Amino acid sequence: MPLEDFDRYPLLFGPSPVHPLDRLTAHLGGARIWAKREDCNSGLAYGGNKTRKLEYLLPDALAQGADTLVSIGGVQSNHTRQVAAVAARAGLKAVLVQESWVDWPDAVNDKVGNILLSRIMGADVRLVRAGFDIGVKDSWQQALDDVRAAGGTPYAIPAGASDHPLGGLGFAHWAAEVERQEAELGVFFDTIVVCSVTGSTQAGMIAGFAGQDRPRRILGIDASAKPAQTRAQVARIARSTAELIDIGREVRDDEIVLLEGWAGDVYGIPVESTVAAIELVGRLEGVILDPVYEGKSMAGLVDLVRSGDIPRESNVLYAHLGGQPALNAYSGAFR
Ligand SMILES: Cc1ncc(COP(=O)(O)O)c(C=O)c1O
Repeated sequence: MPLEDFDRYPLLFGPSPVHPLDRLTAHLGGARIWAKREDCNSGLAYGGNKTRKLEYLLPDALAQGADTLVSIGGVQSNHTRQVAAVAARAGLKAVLVQESWVDWPDAVNDKVGNILLSRIMGADVRLVRAGFDIGVKDSWQQALDDVRAAGGTPYAIPAGASDHPLGGLGFAHWAAEVERQEAELGVFFDTIVVCSVTGSTQAGMIAGFAGQDRPRRILGIDASAKPAQTRAQVARIARSTAELIDIGREVRDDEIVLLEGWAGDVYGIPVESTVAAIELVGRLEGVILDPVYEGKSMAGLVDLVRSGDIPRESNVLYAHLGGQPALNAYSGAFR
């Protein structure tokens, strides 16, 4: 059915702001760069891309009579922090499985930033030893069983709210929002740059834009350091979302673009280009990016503009997906 007919529980302020990054544009000497700001899209615990996805999962959870949202992520997961906020907002409980996905030496890594915020919001935070993987995990199944055993009704939200039938809807909605904002601003964004890890942010965009008349490039920048897995997940969710919202055609292979080269070797560890991109945008624009996701997609954008892969006459929309609370756990990267 059409996207407008799906239930949506409003969690955002409204359309997220879109604005030009003029000093970055001048510095790169090429394409005109704009940002759309999911990092300030909501009043719920700093918002971010997951808050937008959860607008579509929450009505489903409530319709099923759930009393506890159960989700999973790394210790500094932005996603689980947003699940905690949404649970608080809706009067539900949250159980969060926080796996040690990232081997990062900041001594306070499991005490500050996202995990601190989740604790403040009353979530049942469970630290678990396990490596990075975006797939279904035993620890998450265990948490779901625990809620049931205690007489509760859990609602299962996978990592990044991605591998879920409704996971792509939030960013299909984002695509429609962009089209309306373009009409107001009198601009057309021919290129979108977006960070990808669990995949449904980019996948939702692909499905949403595929239903529009004017083609554009959606350049996913891998930050998972497991690009084959992320690319397969983006493709699968883009196609299932396109079908779910009846766009009336298949998503083609050439519409699924995930570029590699900026993630480093391991998920969650900033590399030189990440720190350089964070400092560049901080110093030119006063805009803050995080070391796990947005610093990596911005590093990609910078290189693609400099190399001419993104042409000089392009209007580029950089999707800023949030994530700054994790910065507190990464002080060692900025000495
Ligand atoms: C700040 C930020 N940017 C980008 C992403 C990647 O989005 P997705 O997992 O939907 O690919 C995430 C979450 O994984 C995130 O928290």
